[in-house]
Amino acid sequence: FHVDWDLTTAEKAGFDHFMLKEIYEQPKAYRDTMMGRISADGRSVELKEIGMTPEQIRGIRNVHIVACGTAYHAGMVGKSLIESLARIPVEIDVASEYRYRSPIITPETLVIVVSQSGETADTLAALREAKRCGARVLAITNVVGSSVSREANDVIITQAGPEIAVASTKAYTSQLIAFMLYGLFLADTLGTRDKDWIADVLVAMQKLPEQVESILERAQVLKQVAESLAKHDNLFFIGRGIDFAVAQEGSLKLKEISYIHSEAYPAGELKHGTLALIEEGIPVIALITQEDLYEKTLSNIKEVKARGAHVLGLVNEGTEVEVGKSIDELFAIPRTLPLLSPALSVVPLQLLAYYASLARGNDVDKPRNLAKSVTVE
Ligand code: G6P
Repeated sequence: FHVDWDLTTAEKAGFDHFMLKEIYEQPKAYRDTMMGRISADGRSVELKEIGMTPEQIRGIRNVHIVACGTAYHAGMVGKSLIESLARIPVEIDVASEYRYRSPIITPETLVIVVSQSGETADTLAALREAKRCGARVLAITNVVGSSVSREANDVIITQAGPEIAVASTKAYTSQLIAFMLYGLFLADTLGTRDKDWIADVLVAMQKLPEQVESILERAQVLKQVAESLAKHDNLFFIGRGIDFAVAQEGSLKLKEISYIHSEAYPAGELKHGTLALIEEGIPVIALITQEDLYEKTLSNIKEVKARGAHVLGLVNEGTEVEVGKSIDELFAIPRTLPLLSPALSVVPLQLLAYYASLARGNDVDKPRNLAKSVTVE
């Protein structure tokens, strides 16, 4: 009796690829990243790993978020969260640009570096520059003992577990959870939000894992959509506000593994140039999760539809009828608070990228020209 067995197959735990396994591990990654960080009464975030005193936190004048690739996109969501929750101005840079633009870093600047591996050379160099200028550095990383975690002043470890696929999925969403927790922590310390409000957000956050599960149960629908997307060479993602940040990650994911060219645009900016590229049949993936921006985004969708685009909308459950009139296909996302929606809306985009890559016969886990961790500048 002989069983064919190898370590890689065993590690994939029945999934065809590490990326798919890691997409399905997200509910667990969310739970693990929240675990031990919410107070027993559910009314506050406890980040015992943060050494800053309330006095030091009150002294933060501005925040710089610095990261590369997917971690940079998590940082874009982080900027929205920190600005809206804690009302502190946040700038964000890709790490390879940060040092060279002479950023204004003072001892009252909090620099947040985000890195799954904690070893990315550009991010590490930015961290060192920030410290040289006297800033305090907070790292959000997935790897305990990594260079970034050792050199930063404070560290929030995302509990995503090892990520093998080059295209990051569960590390990204765990970074979103870390930013949500940190944003609430700042809001509580600074008194920019009251305890009841924070408690409501924490209840909604704890529902996210099962809401992701309900998206994963509908993966086959996305597989079909992805198979038709895979026939195209160009497509667009649009969204406004926090949806635009997620659109950028969706576009990057698709580029990385399917090699389909795509661009993410703020929905309202399309008409200032890029609309010229919209022609008959071109797919446009529109994110429409932010209630206060519905009307505006819908009018942008009508602009692309009028030029022949085929629109797939990611919409909130319950808005299908209203939004459905303006789009060709829709995928509904479970209801959550607007600021938490990225943790749900990115999941269908990850699956679209995965299935498009598969349909094109690509090496999903090891895309051409890319490395999991880039340790050169
Ligand atoms: C590489 C990977 C990306 C990743 C980026 C930053 O380019 O291919 O998937 O987002 O590095 O990696 P880090 O480990 O710093 O998050």
